[in-house]
Amino acid sequence: TRFDTLIKNGRIITAADSYDADIGIKDGRIVALGQGLEGADEVIDAQGLWVMPGGIDAHCHLDQPLGDGAVMADDFLTGTRSAACGGTTTVIPFAAQQKGQSLRAAVEDYHRRSEGKALVDYAFHMIVTDPTETVLKEELPALIQEGYSSFKIYLTYDDLKLNDREVLEVLAMARREGGMVMVHAENADCIAYLTELLESQGKTAPYFHSEAHSAIAEREATHRAISLAELIDVPILIVHVSGPEAIEQIRWAQGRGLRVYGETCPQYLMLTAEDLDQEGFEGAKCVCSPPPRDPKAQEAVWQALENGVFQVFSSDHAPFRYDDPQGKKLHGEDAAFHHVPNGIPGLETRLAILFSEGVVKQRIDATRFVALTATNPAKIYGLYPRKGTIAIGSDADLTLWDSEAKMTVRNEALHHAVDYTPYEGLELTGRPMLTLCRGRVVSRGGEPMVDAGHGRFLKCDKPQPARPRGSAKGF
Ligand code: URP
Ligand code: ZN
Ligand code: ZN
Ligand code: ZN
Repeated sequence: TRFDTLIKNGRIITAADSYDADIGIKDGRIVALGQGLEGADEVIDAQGLWVMPGGIDAHCHLDQPLGDGAVMADDFLTGTRSAACGGTTTVIPFAAQQKGQSLRAAVEDYHRRSEGKALVDYAFHMIVTDPTETVLKEELPALIQEGYSSFKIYLTYDDLKLNDREVLEVLAMARREGGMVMVHAENADCIAYLTELLESQGKTAPYFHSEAHSAIAEREATHRAISLAELIDVPILIVHVSGPEAIEQIRWAQGRGLRVYGETCPQYLMLTAEDLDQEGFEGAKCVCSPPPRDPKAQEAVWQALENGVFQVFSSDHAPFRYDDPQGKKLHGEDAAFHHVPNGIPGLETRLAILFSEGVVKQRIDATRFVALTATNPAKIYGLYPRKGTIAIGSDADLTLWDSEAKMTVRNEALHHAVDYTPYEGLELTGRPMLTLCRGRVVSRGGEPMVDAGHGRFLKCDKPQPARPRGSAKGF
């Protein structure tokens, strides 16, 4: 037969177009698009469904050891299982360098952690915490060349942060080597000052995390990151942007022609600081950095998704169990906010939330949904056009959605290993009915359909959008 699999009668949606056509798949790739295709071993009827590129979750944390003894709930098996069930076919978690560790050793460590476990495809961003001469002159140039073409740096957290001089050195290296730099932009000293002040006033409940991690501290660090990148003349991407203060800085930079990209996450659309203010210690469930802000911030984030200030929509899945001495309760139920592990789960709910709240409620259109959740991350991180689109020659990574089906988010129905979701009880419209990764069905009706090990490691090219201004067109 001509095709291994044929997806018939669906409505194809890409970042550019929406049209009715069949998709022919052979050896895990899309080999034909057209009407009335015939001749396949397996035919999937997509009548009434939207056929979109599988989601790319370009910011998630899996099996990442933390300095303070907290243990992430999800490894590469449970994390990618959860991703697959939510319509995501590629994840880009982090390979984090510990201070004193070589970057090469960090990357090898994460290969061991992921080997044979993933249900969907994965690449790595590195986290650079110790930019020694060897790291900057030897390891990073070699690793970028070998398919690890993006990395994250931090302006806060004592065990992760770089000073401005280190940031400049890293940016200069990225410019020379063509890597994409992601920045966690919060001002460490502002946070430390506010944390001590709040603590001295007895304000230690989870809610006060949101006051310590002020939007002003986020704005300052965002502006500083942009300025350092402008000085070096290299693109950067600001991750997990929470509200209008940082958005204004990014828009200002973009308006001046700088290649500054932005990412946001479901928590900044769906949660506010009020969600950290709950009975007892429950607010710890929503402690993440930057914290969710207020309804006006949510509105600003929607606007930036709609008008193009943001290119990427990721989960920032950072999974800690709530009722667990290795999770949110690491230091007990009365721990001060700054001892609560930062992060919330979201791999499985990311697409459904943006679909329902964004597309169904007509805040963004379907092509923008695809751009934000698949196509742009593929371009920005060097996976395009293998991933992130529906085109001849691309991997057959597809997710078929019923745009009218109702679902209520229930943690017991999710496939991560976290004991809660911040979105419990949320009613959504639209859900993934079938998801394929390289032509193989990985989930059906929100349930996993493939064994651990289907997912393959992906080498990322040097991304076009990481090139300095004037050297090639961005997008
Ligand atoms: O609170 C968060 N976001 N934790 C995950 C680590 C990070 O900075 O993205
Ligand atoms: Zn971060
Ligand atoms: Zn993160
Ligand atoms: Zn303390």
